[in-house]
Amino acid sequence: MAIVVETESTYDPIELAECLEKVSKTLVPEDQDSILSLAPVLKSLAANKRFLTDFLNGQLAKFMGGGKSSLYSPQSFILGGNGTTWTIRGNFWFPLAGAGTLASVQTSVFSYERPHNHNFSLLTVGWFGPGYETALWECDPASITGIPGEIVDLLSLGRESLPSGKVLFYRPFRDVHIQYSPQKFSISLNLLVVPDSYRLMDQYIFDVETSRIVGVPDDLDGARRGSVMELLGYFGDDRTKELLFDIATSHPCRRTRLGATRGLLLAGAGQAPKALETIASSSDDFLRHYSRVLSADTFSSNSD
Ligand SMILES: [Fe+2]
Repeated sequence: MAIVVETESTYDPIELAECLEKVSKTLVPEDQDSILSLAPVLKSLAANKRFLTDFLNGQLAKFMGGGKSSLYSPQSFILGGNGTTWTIRGNFWFPLAGAGTLASVQTSVFSYERPHNHNFSLLTVGWFGPGYETALWECDPASITGIPGEIVDLLSLGRESLPSGKVLFYRPFRDVHIQYSPQKFSISLNLLVVPDSYRLMDQYIFDVETSRIVGVPDDLDGARRGSVMELLGYFGDDRTKELLFDIATSHPCRRTRLGATRGLLLAGAGQAPKALETIASSSDDFLRHYSRVLSADTFSSNSD
């Protein structure tokens, strides 16, 4: 399936409230066709060249009045959503500031030149400017275990850009891309769709030269939960160990289970061997892999 969504060349502009209402009434988060059917709605919003300035003025006025604005990062701002499974967001895309320190900070902040897939569906339209350029690949998510260094079959889908009025759709988990900084400042509008089950799943950073997984983004929900579980192993009490054991053996997110198992091992908890045994017998290759890694680590530190 092509990533460029074919739409009419022009649409009558609509207001943000109308766009939000239409998404709210139409969207079935798990259904890709329902997301794609909203391309004309998003493009109609992008045809409105006034709403974003009004919205941002409103946010600035709120900010000056001591309120909380939705300008939550240097790159993104939330325009609306249902607070759980979908969000309409705006994104700023800056041209790189030469090649110095600022350019490398911008590359990191704007995720330029970092091949990744998404654990959400993303329908996006250019609102202003020539837009970012992107190189695209696809992978088979079912074939991925999720271990750093793992080779993944990446099929090149060429390059696209996101100028004003063009609509792209990134399939969850399957599409991998690199974004390059635009020639000129640009803005895109996004519909992000995240069914609850996706929040338990991984997205990855890839090395497209070697077709390998490099790791996961630091802000991945599962990675953050796993880090907290592991951290608790340093200072928790007996009740913490009981809770970590329950999480290690039954949580629906594998990275959370792995983190809790690591926490139990760090704490030298009596439940650790049983937790390790449980992930070793999991049907998930990722957990079985790390059960072997953790067992080997435990064995080598016990024999020091
Ligand atoms: Fe992306």
